Amino acid sequence: MPQILSRLFRIILFFNIICFIRAVPLPFSNDLICGYQACNPIKEGYINIHLVPHSHNDVGWVKTIDQYYYGVPIEKFTGAVQYIYQSVLDSLKRNKKRKFIVVETSYFWKWWQLQNEETQEDFSQLVYNGQIEFTGGGWSMNDEAVTHYQSIIDQMTWGLRRLNDTFGDCGHPKAGWQIDPFGHSSEMASIFAQMGYDGVILGRIDFQDKRHRKSTRAMDMVWRGSESLGPKSDIFTSVLFNLYDAPDTFCYELGSCRIISLVDDPESPEYNMDKREWDFFNLMDYFSRSYTTSNVLIPMGRDFGYENAETWFMNMDKLINFVNGKEFNKRKYNVMYSTPACFIYGVHNETKGTINTTLKTDDFFPYASEVNKFWTGFYTSRPQLKRFERIGNNFLQVSKQLYALSGIYSEQRDSDLTSLREAMGVLQHHDAITGTEKQVVTNDYEKRLHKAIVNCENLTNEALSVLVKNEMHSTFGHCLLVNISQCDYSEENDQFVITVYNPLSRFVNKYVRLPVLGGSYLVLDPAGDEVLTQIMPIHAKILKMPGRESNATVELLFQAKDIPPLGFKSFYVQLLKGNATIAEDDTGKFKANYEHIGFDINATTGILGKIYFENHITIDLNQTFQYYIGSNDKVSPSGAYVFRPQKNTSVTNVANKVSLNKLFKGPLVTELQQTVNNMASQTVRIYHEEKFLEFDWIIGPLPNYMLNGREVITKYSTNFNTNGIFYTDSNGREMLKRVRDFRPTWNLSTHELESSNYYPVTERINIKDPNQDIQLSILTDRAQGGSSLEDGDIELMLHRNTKLDDYLGVDEELMDWAYNTGVVVRGSHYMIAGRNILSLEKDIAERKLLDAWTFISKPDEDNFLDYQRLNRMEFNGLGVVLPQNIHILTLEPWDNFTFLLRLEHVIAKGEDVSFSQPITINLSELFTTFQIISARETTLGANKWLDESEKLSFRSINDQPQPELSFNSLNEMDVTLNPMEIRTFMIRTEPRILFM
Ligand SMILES: *[C@@H]1O[C@H](CO)[C@@H](O)[C@H](O)[C@H]1NC(C)=O
Ligand SMILES: [Zn+2]
Repeated sequence: MPQILSRLFRIILFFNIICFIRAVPLPFSNDLICGYQACNPIKEGYINIHLVPHSHNDVGWVKTIDQYYYGVPIEKFTGAVQYIYQSVLDSLKRNKKRKFIVVETSYFWKWWQLQNEETQEDFSQLVYNGQIEFTGGGWSMNDEAVTHYQSIIDQMTWGLRRLNDTFGDCGHPKAGWQIDPFGHSSEMASIFAQMGYDGVILGRIDFQDKRHRKSTRAMDMVWRGSESLGPKSDIFTSVLFNLYDAPDTFCYELGSCRIISLVDDPESPEYNMDKREWDFFNLMDYFSRSYTTSNVLIPMGRDFGYENAETWFMNMDKLINFVNGKEFNKRKYNVMYSTPACFIYGVHNETKGTINTTLKTDDFFPYASEVNKFWTGFYTSRPQLKRFERIGNNFLQVSKQLYALSGIYSEQRDSDLTSLREAMGVLQHHDAITGTEKQVVTNDYEKRLHKAIVNCENLTNEALSVLVKNEMHSTFGHCLLVNISQCDYSEENDQFVITVYNPLSRFVNKYVRLPVLGGSYLVLDPAGDEVLTQIMPIHAKILKMPGRESNATVELLFQAKDIPPLGFKSFYVQLLKGNATIAEDDTGKFKANYEHIGFDINATTGILGKIYFENHITIDLNQTFQYYIGSNDKVSPSGAYVFRPQKNTSVTNVANKVSLNKLFKGPLVTELQQTVNNMASQTVRIYHEEKFLEFDWIIGPLPNYMLNGREVITKYSTNFNTNGIFYTDSNGREMLKRVRDFRPTWNLSTHELESSNYYPVTERINIKDPNQDIQLSILTDRAQGGSSLEDGDIELMLHRNTKLDDYLGVDEELMDWAYNTGVVVRGSHYMIAGRNILSLEKDIAERKLLDAWTFISKPDEDNFLDYQRLNRMEFNGLGVVLPQNIHILTLEPWDNFTFLLRLEHVIAKGEDVSFSQPITINLSELFTTFQIISARETTLGANKWLDESEKLSFRSINDQPQPELSFNSLNEMDVTLNPMEIRTFMIRTEPRILFM
């Protein structure tokens, strides 16, 4: 159908006429004194005190984003972002020595867009002369425990893009500023390093770890985030002495601090400079003895501080003037306005990059702030929100890809996509996806994400229409509520088309499931061949899910086979008259055994007994649902952040028996539908062509009258001899070894035996039995807290509520509420076991993260043949077959004809004999709908050209210098990827002729 081309071309040309309007022109580059040139120099032989004015602006927490921005409602006034920006701006203009850092780009961008040109000009001047420095610079200050690396990279990239577009080089943050997240991941360290940051500042590390570091002057270190990437993932890291608040008695926030104003007039009876100087030097003397170099970073700010910036700056001006250059305790002090980047630069100047502490190679989890406060509850808090965020990411990637492949660039579509980018960016915030915000704020996040998904439907709809029918209109819907088995499209229509889009860069199979009212359906694939179907009864618990409005009691199921990479296949579905093909009710038989997978049920308890996997692997398994009861300690209870079970009360079984077991067998899938009691239900599922067992659990509503709440886990017990060792992932990327009751770099001492052994499981957890050389892995569909508290066990916390607040500021019990009742959560664990299951594990993880997306449409044609003739039913976006270990992490429209492309190697060094090798691929023929005419590499954050990016290099004194691996490509279109490497390119493209 050749006219599709010309039509596509016309569309593309039309939207080509887009101009980019910049409110404030960039000054000539030699006017710029931002960056390290703007730093006050450190002085040799002095203690160099870097005072860093900052304001910590949570992107939602006890109030919503907009409430914080505007400063409403009146009864909960905590400081408003709009006033902070204005006030800081005025104060910085008064005195060129003053500095300030801007951290959360979502707030900056909101403020910036509402300003007139004059204010923008003023602000820009302060950026260009180095008084304002962007630090961190992500859309939000993301959490590091429960976030996925794909979403972290996206949210950082989006914040950095706004800064680069607005301020060019002066908008590039050089320092990470992760001063509030609740523990720190090695993947985040690696991401910062790959984004070209020179260092990162942390606030919250375990109090015992901090104590140890202070006493050994190890608050500064080089951290290697990835074993595979080696020195490329090294980042200089410094930990704040306390948290990010200004030190006691030096807080100058009007209205909330007890301000001791400095009186420097010697004639005044209120003169107090000598006393204040003494206090200041005492503190600095104490702080500086914990740091590795002469440089100490002192945060001068607090939550939503600087609403009246002048109060801070007037006092700091006086302080600096008075104390700078003086001597105390035989040490001289250089005290200055500074920024995190200037601090890092100071450290680099002093050490020439060699840091005199041990190289750190593990992570900072779990985080405990005090003896009884292990912040491991938030790994699970608000599981529904945590899942919704993953769905948001899935749809964001689908939207970006379809947008790029269809070539329908326009400003409107850009803004639709941007609304989803922003909603996802906000969700990564350390009080969003963590579940540590108030209920109303959770509701606001969910509303934002939902609205953004709806906006993006316009885009996916039009993109698909162009790819399917060469038209800009058509209605491809999707069913966001399939998790509660509700879908208007499939329930209301006797005839519909399912278009399954695959965002992975390889062929996949997917089982499509849709709630339907009919009993029997004909499903035709693109060739017109009939596809095997099955009708499966819906679990009784799902029929009663709060909020469900559907009459469907069964689901239609079929397998969509070989869906092309970055492509789709359509299936034509028609209701048949006649008998239903409902799966056979096999209840009463206590096993489901297929050649490569199966299970037995214990006839007395109804609980699974044995499980079987490929290669004759049999494992004795005992799966239970249990709950912890929160501590009675009123001072340190379980809450949104903290998990603290009651002492001496062992975890309790939800029920000792499964109260109802139903077993259904069909040609495609076998399901054991279990009702444990009214708190817990589950379906154990075997898809006959899959190698995993799926545990599809439903928990809730949790009783809300229990004094200490309920924290529900499922525990998979085996007889593996694990010696206290288990493994969990770091933000869904590399695996880390965990050892029960042990920390690699300091001596752990604790009575919190459960909580101190919980780790974030963003994607998977596994145990190994060295005797049998078998590994058992469980993959999750969202982040959860997990552990192995006894050898052979894996436990994962599924859902929780607490009747008490844990006194960390959210000031609300964790009830997790929806539809006027406690949230009912449904989710899946995918279990595999065997000897060499790494590639299987990756395969499942990828398919669950970026699931093939099911679109539904009502055909314009009334029969299959007409539909087939007039619509493209199969489409492949990739022109080449990529090796199994290479993935397209990002394909995203950036500007007209310019896309962002990220390729990643997904296997770690030494993980697999054949897949852990460097691989070279060629870009030119990568995609079918466009040709790449040039590619220029950037840093991971896409805000700097790689060949122009400069970085301060740091190494730990105990690290052996390693030769850099480098590969010279013969051709600029050849890209070599080493194990775990991600490479980012800005590609210029030209549309290509589509064939049909
Ligand atoms: C950053 O912004 C500048 C100025 O707008 C632009 O010329 C440059 O291409 C951008 N850099 C990247 C890597 O996109
Ligand atoms: Zn915060």
